Amino acid sequence: MHSRACLLLLICFPVLLNAAPSSANGGNESLILGCGLGGGGGKDTDGRKWSPDDKYLSRGNSVTFKASFQDPSLLSEVPYMTARIFTSEAAYKFAIQGDKRYWLRLHFYPSVYDNLDSVNSYFSVKANGLTLLSNFSAFVTCQALSQAYVDREYSLAPLDSDVLNVTFTPSGKHNETFAFVNGIELIQMPELFDEAPLVGYDGQTMDTKSLHLQTMFRLNVGGQYISPNEDSGLTRMWYDDRPYIYGSATGVTNQATKDEKIDYQSLPESIAPPSVYSTSRSMGGDKNVNLGYNLTWIFQVDPDSIYLTRLHFCEYHYSKVNQIVFKVYINNQTAETAADVIGWSGGKGIPTYKDYVMYARDQPGDDKLWLALHPAPETKPEFYDALLNGVEVFKLNDTDLSGPNPQPSDMLVKYEQKEKTFQTKNQTSRTFVIGSAAGGAAGFALVAAIIVVVHHKKRKRAPGSYTTSSNWLPLYGSHTVGTKSTGSGKSMGSVNLSAMAQGLCRYFSLQEMKQATKNFDESNVIGVGGFGKVYKGVIDNGFKVAIKRSNPQSEQGVNEFQTEIEMLSKLRHKHLVSLIGFCEEGDEMCLVYDYMARGTMREHLYKGNKPLDMLTWKQRLEICIGAARGLHYLHTGAKYTIIHRDVKTTNILLDENWVAKVSDFGLSKTGPDMNKGHVSTVVKGSFGYLDPEYFRRQQLTEKSDVYSFGVVLFEALCARPALNPSLPKEQVSLAEWALYNKRRGTLEDIIDPNIKGKSNPESLIKFADAAEKCVSDLGFERPSMNDLLWNLEFALNLEQNPKGSTAPREDEGEFSEVSLTNNDVAAHYKNLSLGSELEVVQDSTNGSSSPVIFSQIGNPTGR
Ligand SMILES: *[C@@H]1O[C@H](CO)[C@@H](O)[C@H](O)[C@H]1NC(C)=O
Ligand SMILES: *[C@@H]1O[C@H](CO)[C@@H](O)[C@H](O)[C@H]1NC(C)=O
Ligand SMILES: *[C@@H]1O[C@H](CO)[C@@H](O)[C@H](O)[C@H]1NC(C)=O
Ligand SMILES: *[C@@H]1O[C@H](CO)[C@@H](O)[C@H](O)[C@H]1NC(C)=O
Ligand SMILES: *[C@@H]1O[C@H](CO)[C@@H](O)[C@H](O)[C@H]1NC(C)=O
Ligand SMILES: *[C@@H]1O[C@H](CO)[C@@H](O)[C@H](O)[C@H]1NC(C)=O
Ligand SMILES: *[C@@H]1O[C@H](CO)[C@@H](O)[C@H](O)[C@H]1NC(C)=O
Repeated sequence: MHSRACLLLLICFPVLLNAAPSSANGGNESLILGCGLGGGGGKDTDGRKWSPDDKYLSRGNSVTFKASFQDPSLLSEVPYMTARIFTSEAAYKFAIQGDKRYWLRLHFYPSVYDNLDSVNSYFSVKANGLTLLSNFSAFVTCQALSQAYVDREYSLAPLDSDVLNVTFTPSGKHNETFAFVNGIELIQMPELFDEAPLVGYDGQTMDTKSLHLQTMFRLNVGGQYISPNEDSGLTRMWYDDRPYIYGSATGVTNQATKDEKIDYQSLPESIAPPSVYSTSRSMGGDKNVNLGYNLTWIFQVDPDSIYLTRLHFCEYHYSKVNQIVFKVYINNQTAETAADVIGWSGGKGIPTYKDYVMYARDQPGDDKLWLALHPAPETKPEFYDALLNGVEVFKLNDTDLSGPNPQPSDMLVKYEQKEKTFQTKNQTSRTFVIGSAAGGAAGFALVAAIIVVVHHKKRKRAPGSYTTSSNWLPLYGSHTVGTKSTGSGKSMGSVNLSAMAQGLCRYFSLQEMKQATKNFDESNVIGVGGFGKVYKGVIDNGFKVAIKRSNPQSEQGVNEFQTEIEMLSKLRHKHLVSLIGFCEEGDEMCLVYDYMARGTMREHLYKGNKPLDMLTWKQRLEICIGAARGLHYLHTGAKYTIIHRDVKTTNILLDENWVAKVSDFGLSKTGPDMNKGHVSTVVKGSFGYLDPEYFRRQQLTEKSDVYSFGVVLFEALCARPALNPSLPKEQVSLAEWALYNKRRGTLEDIIDPNIKGKSNPESLIKFADAAEKCVSDLGFERPSMNDLLWNLEFALNLEQNPKGSTAPREDEGEFSEVSLTNNDVAAHYKNLSLGSELEVVQDSTNGSSSPVIFSQIGNPTGR
């Protein structure tokens, strides 16, 4: 892979969807319904209550089922894991007030419900006479958007009826089809729409008050995702705008300081929350640069439809009229010749908004809505700049808001075909081995993946022209990335991205990386791995991060780099280390993580730290449980079984609250390499932790991680390295030595003296029993991570309540965190070397018996 070319990323977007207040009828109260939720309903992870839907069913038959599989990006079980399913036309009936506007939100999670696979589900939805969806496939839509679930938001104009019938009709054109829905919200809202100018029709306006709308996009420009709870009363979601910006000219982001209050004056606060108005994007400080480009956003829309674009503005830096005046273009037509935010709003900190109506024809290119800002020098403003705080795009119609299902990008389709071939070749279901699919299209990557080509070009503009502190990587496939002038942008196909800006991974420039690490100063090195050096760094004026810089010579580095981005952007878990972003510029590649203030687990066990640093038995248990949770999530939480392959105490990091986080997902295997036409397999791992079965048979299963984790448990118990070559032969390997002693009943002799006598012996025994099982010779004799967790929690319980101890609950109760406030412990992981373990690298490229590096373990719950 050539660094100047493109970087293929496979990324998935967890997206939060949500609700609002709750309850019954009368037409003016919000209904938040979890479809198929029985009993008293349920709460989502944000604590919002979803009520059962059955009493609103008015006609037709339906059944309810639980989804057979919970996608890891579904952060909330409610309302997605239950569905109401209609095999023939059926309707809900809601009491409404005929003179009021309503939000109607529909939530869909295309899964397998009992024996009904949503692949076959095509249906239409009507709200009284208005068609909302037709021939709608939630499955196709989610696949194209690369999300696990999809929501649709409509704003229904007054219906002049005290009844709202929401009718679901399975499409007659498909066999075995059915309709389904997971959640419905019906919320009365104030009338927020009015007359708006028609762009391109000089002086004409359109009255949007009487029109029904579908929300297509809602962005907090220059800011972050805003959840329904944080909205100003209308439970809307606002997304980061970065993915929609065209090209590399992203301008700069601005944030109002805390004492700059947003003063709504006559504007209702429901128009947009203060967090939208307190962040913005502008063009930058260089007049000549700004004159040379348009700050542009692009939105994928359905052609032959009318769109309302609402722009939100609030100026909090300047306070005078004619300081900043700019033009607004919508679809290359001038919507505004001289936008002056202060002139419109009347002062600093006062928000305002402007609406524009635009007709997207049915010509090539009309499936995109372009929004561009450019300074207006003719008006002689003090600064040549432009500003935007928020943008909403709505589709308008009075009878039919439905559009075609989005098309998956060509690349996604190709990739899925390859995956299918791979699966049939390998029969059983899928196991994703970390490191296996680096480089992208080789075959095993994640289904819920978006493939993005990011072109990093030399910036043509003067250095410092974008003083933006950071950019957010556009992880999506909706539009051309790269500027037109170089012609190197590559369209990744058309997908509508209404709800996918969550989980973005930030892009850093090399300059920022240099600044953060004092030009990669050696004194900032906190570790060294196969990938390269790890530096401590500071970004955003004080936020500490760990920066992994790749060794440009190492091809392995490139693979690990990609694997790690793929994995970590897909996986989010309290006990997995979080990736903040990355940098790729020229030959340089860096990964940026949360800084783990307390370093590695290992250094708190035996690596020459102050005695104060020594962990108590309870702390060790809690750290082991945390790490076990992280691994358990890898093994079972994701769509694919993920095998870490390099579990060891230096890959278990501790944050300032001693919360354990599993790290280092970059262990790369040189997998089947399509380009080189041969299969080379490299067995990798760390001596002392390597599963002997894996070593012998080169069959990797999640039980290999369990073995390695067993060694970690013994390290916690005995406080010595997994491998210590300076000891007598029989003691070199901790796993063997501990097992030998355990079986002879002499384990006590090798337990860390720091915990012996200071902890409940029963807890130690329970723990040692569990560790022993983990390092069983044969994989099937080892416990699953889940069983192990149960035993570790039991051991913790014994330690905490020596008498009358009870077994922990079988389910996954939230584990109470260690919250030590030990400020003596200033953990520097400067002194440790992350790569100190000998690494086994056995290249069997030429071996005639090409070993199988991974086997397919059942995670049959796939899609
Ligand atoms: C709904 O309307 C009724 C009567 O019109 C009124 O008493 C009640 O306060 C209203 N509820 C809300 C939440 O506005
Ligand atoms: C709602 O559906 C009922 C039949 O279930 C029908 O009688 C009524 O006219 C419908 N109302 C509207 C406004 O479509
Ligand atoms: C639909 O299903 C029926 C019965 O299962 C079958 O005979 C028919 O061929 C199917 N039609 C299509 C178009 O698949
Ligand atoms: C607007 O102009 C750009 C080039 O500047 C072009 O690619 C795009 O198709 C145009 N959009 C419309 C809707 O005409
Ligand atoms: C900005 O966009 C407008 C409308 O598409 C176009 O006429 C103009 O040339 C663009 N300016 C630059 C510098 O790209
Ligand atoms: C509404 O949608 C229908 C069907 O797509 C279309 O024929 C009609 O022109 C649209 N009306 C408006 C005002 O966009
Ligand atoms: C329904 O949607 C599917 C998937 O997008 C498409 O292939 C099919 O042609 C559509 N059928 C109709 C009748 O529009």
